[in-house]
Amino acid sequence: MNSRYISFNEDPIQRTKSKTISITFDRRKINGEQGQTIAGLLMSNGISTWRTTSKNARPRGLFCGIGICFDCIVTVNGQRDVRACQRRCQDGDIITVQHDKLPEVKSHEDEAE
Ligand code: FES
Repeated sequence: MNSRYISFNEDPIQRTKSKTISITFDRRKINGEQGQTIAGLLMSNGISTWRTTSKNARPRGLFCGIGICFDCIVTVNGQRDVRACQRRCQDGDIITVQHDKLPEVKSHEDEAE
């Protein structure tokens, strides 16, 4: 076997027809293809950020793309902390931006009371 260019029509592994699915992202209906991850579907619709940081509300989206960094978390159908790069979209999913405030820090004086 050697490496050579195979034209699309000669390639025995043809792309299968995909089904169009529709999800809601922050009250906006967007379309994608069945099998896409949430991150893939959002990015294919021009959306590159879907979370904000706790400290300064900075926008975040895809970073590692392989499920390690947790930078891409979103809320899916009410379930928090879903990694958008790992979860495949289902038709009708409702995705919302996730923003969490920093937890309150109690001082030692508060704990003594
Ligand atoms: S982009 Fe890093 S976990 Fe999803």
